[in-house]
Amino acid sequence: MTRILFVCLGNICRSPAGENTMRDLLQREGITGISVDSAGTAGYHIGKRPDSRMSATLEQRGIAVTGRARQFTKKDFENFDLIIPMDEENRRDILRLARHESDRAKIQPFMTFCQRFTNPEVPDPYYGGPEGFELVADIVADGCKAIFSSLSHQND
Ligand code: 4NP
Repeated sequence: MTRILFVCLGNICRSPAGENTMRDLLQREGITGISVDSAGTAGYHIGKRPDSRMSATLEQRGIAVTGRARQFTKKDFENFDLIIPMDEENRRDILRLARHESDRAKIQPFMTFCQRFTNPEVPDPYYGGPEGFELVADIVADGCKAIFSSLSHQND
């Protein structure tokens, strides 16, 4: 079982987009050996459902959205194999909680997977308009496809 964790700031927009897009891909392809989850570095939104603007954008694309926000903890380094921060601040914040080189080795920024998009980070859509949520969904679709193919090649 490969366990993947997407991490953003609030765990209500970008990382739930990663989690739910990845789960949708895995389900469509009938893959069962990979589990996905998401978490936020901040605690402001603990227990909340994904942002309704993010959910609506994904649902329009046929992606079901589930989950409740939770905060990233050190324990996540034990519970996951691949930890994917959505922006640079998220990467620094989780790196600060890493205890060993083996923890640090699990962190791989989301944009390093993307093929089509060359943005340095997945941009935070929270304070912007609907186009920001569309962009997040586009970037996340691009990166998740690449994560999916990198994992399926591992098992060749
Ligand atoms: P996320 O977006 O990190 O993609 O979930 C945000 C959600 C909430 C806030 C910032 C970003 N906030 O400042 O409350």
